[in-house]
Amino acid sequence: MAQYTRNPPLNPEDLLPDPLAQLLLWIDAAGASGMLEPTAMTLATASATAAPSARVVLFKGLHEGQLTFYTDYRGRKAAELAANPQAAATFWWDQLERQVRVEGLVQKLPRAISAAYFASRPRTSQLGAHTSRQSAVVDARDTLDSRLLAVTAHFEGQDIPLPDHWGGYGLLPSVIEFWQGRGGRFHDRLRYRRGDAGWHVDRLEP
Ligand SMILES: Cc1cc2nc3c(=O)[nH]c(=O)nc-3n(C[C@H](O)[C@H](O)[C@H](O)COP(=O)(O)O)c2cc1C
Repeated sequence: MAQYTRNPPLNPEDLLPDPLAQLLLWIDAAGASGMLEPTAMTLATASATAAPSARVVLFKGLHEGQLTFYTDYRGRKAAELAANPQAAATFWWDQLERQVRVEGLVQKLPRAISAAYFASRPRTSQLGAHTSRQSAVVDARDTLDSRLLAVTAHFEGQDIPLPDHWGGYGLLPSVIEFWQGRGGRFHDRLRYRRGDAGWHVDRLEP
C-alpha cells in the first residue's frame, strides 16, 4: 500500500486566496515533476436522467474564471452538457500525491476564443477535427483513414478553418477542493466554495 509522505502538511495559509491561481501553481508543479500530461483532467457529465459518464480531457487554461477544454460539439459529452450543464472534473498528479476536484456549470466558449485555439493546433489535429464525428459508431478504422485522406486533399494548400461542430467549453467553478496525501491515509483536504463575499475555505475530514 503506497504511503503518501512526500508533502508537508497543507494548511489554508499555504494556499493562495484565489483557488484558480492555486490550481495553476499545482499544474505547473506537476509539469515540473516530469508528468506526461499534467493538464489531464477527468471530466464527469450527466445525462438528462442524471446518469453519469466520465472521460479525460486536457485543461487548456483559464478564460474569465472558467477552466477551458476543447472538443467536438456533437459527441456524447456535448449532448450531456446540452441537457445538463452541471459538471465535475478531477486532476490527479501521482508524482505529487495531489488531487484537485472542481464542480460547476459549463458553457460554450465564444467562437473567437475557440478559433484562436484551433488556429494554434497542429495541422494533423485540425484535419482530425474535420474528419471525425466524435462518439459516433464507425464500421472500421479504414473508413476513418480514407475519410482523413479525402479531407487532407480537400484542404491541400489552404488554412484549415474552425469547424462549426468543434470548439471550447468553460467550466465555471462553484467548488474547488485541494487534496494532498498524508501518511496513514490521514490526508489534508481544503475546499473552496464560492460565496457572495468571495471564496470560503473549509477543511474536510479525510
Ligand atoms: C490524456 C487524454 C487527453 C484527452 N484530451 C481530450 C480533449 O482535450 N478533448 C477531447 O474531446 N477528448 C480528449 N480525449 C479523449 C476523451 O477521453 C474521449 O474519448 C472523447 O472526448 C470522447 O468522449 P465522449 O464520447 O464522452 O464525448 C483525451 C483522452 C486522453 C486519454
